[in-house]
Amino acid sequence: MERAVIPVAAARPGHVGDGLPAVVGAGLKVPLVTGEWVPYAGLDHAASTPSLVAVRDAVDELLPWYSGVHRGTGFVSQVATRVYERARQEVRRFTAAPPDATVVFTRNTTDALNLLGRCLPEPTAVFRFSTEHHAALLAWRGHRVHRLATPDTPAEAPAVLAKALADAPGGPKLVVITGASNVTGELWPVAELAEVAAARGARTVLDAAQLAGHRPLDLAGWGVDWAALSGHKMYAPFGAGALVGAVDWPAAADPYLAGGGATAAVAEQDDRTAVTWSALPHRHEGGSPNLVGAHAMAVAGRSLAGAGWPAVTRHEEELTTRLREGLARIPGVRVLSLWPGGHPRLGVVAFSVGRCGGEPADQRLVATALSAEYGIGLRDGAFCAHPAVRALLRDADGHQPDRALRASVGLGSTAEHVDRLLAALADLVRDGPRWRYGHPDEGWRPVPDPRPAPVLVR
Ligand code: ALA
Repeated sequence: MERAVIPVAAARPGHVGDGLPAVVGAGLKVPLVTGEWVPYAGLDHAASTPSLVAVRDAVDELLPWYSGVHRGTGFVSQVATRVYERARQEVRRFTAAPPDATVVFTRNTTDALNLLGRCLPEPTAVFRFSTEHHAALLAWRGHRVHRLATPDTPAEAPAVLAKALADAPGGPKLVVITGASNVTGELWPVAELAEVAAARGARTVLDAAQLAGHRPLDLAGWGVDWAALSGHKMYAPFGAGALVGAVDWPAAADPYLAGGGATAAVAEQDDRTAVTWSALPHRHEGGSPNLVGAHAMAVAGRSLAGAGWPAVTRHEEELTTRLREGLARIPGVRVLSLWPGGHPRLGVVAFSVGRCGGEPADQRLVATALSAEYGIGLRDGAFCAHPAVRALLRDADGHQPDRALRASVGLGSTAEHVDRLLAALADLVRDGPRWRYGHPDEGWRPVPDPRPAPVLVR
């Protein structure tokens, strides 16, 4: 079928009210398989947040000044360099890191954790819970990794860590702490874990990917040594992330990427190449820096802090409560949690649907129908945290499904989005999809799919 072409300009900036920063794409309409167009209900902030309007505008303002950073004497290049270095200071301030902390711009949190993984003295004993995102699970290859059992409550986590550290042999140790689960949104006791680690001579790294756009960070106050964060999860989707924290291990390590920027001097001598590596932070920023991404992160941080964290938190908590209470009313929907009870959490809710139209539910089919028939975007699968999701999905009979659904809210979310999801799930549970879907091996597609392709993907 010939697909109509729609202009990308259908996206309009909008406001969520209450003086909260506006996001790009609020009110964006998406097509349904029925031929209608509805405002997109983007409930996947845990994967990637939309851009703030302030970030988009700041990037627009920067682009005429875009030029090589630390590489040119031209006026524009000098301005670009100053913008980049100011962004470094602003990201340090955003994380409330100590004044002497280094800020290394990376591509994202995964990149930042892998960078730190390359900086560990050999051999380092790494301690981490099994509930983490893959990046925090896997960035420590080549080191001795100690898996910690999931505590029964967050309050018990420090004791689990203390015991593991007490039983560990001497030598360098690193404890990986997750700020908030990207599966369940539950918050970990960061300061308490960092205190236990410090008391036993272990260093700490905080995976702040989920936390950064939703709660204030306080690296110095919490006493963590490093934090890794991503621009794309804090309303600054321009390809930058950061590793922030202590200088010693990163300064002593070989550069993460060998190349220009990471080198102070290179000379070919006889049969060898002599290299003097740059000092931090440039040592680990080989290649041309991501000026736009760094600036976007700085502006996002400033905008979020400027709006006031209580307002951001209130908006998210209202929507999260609405979502969780609504899900609890839908038959067969099971919300996944690490811990029972009302522990503090972000607006990230993973759940599974038991039945869809009387049949055992295929979570991917439910997600596909939510998009095609209701204009709702969420994530299904195991959310780059396979061990955590499998453990959470295991039922009393030992069945272990490997897919769940996850809805996550943020500044781009409204009560209408949440209500639409709840109503759609209730419909799907009761009646099943109204459209036909095929290609289950490819993860389901509407058949036919009459939705027009935006000009972007023509
Ligand atoms: N880590 C991201 C998520 O949780 C991509 O979806």
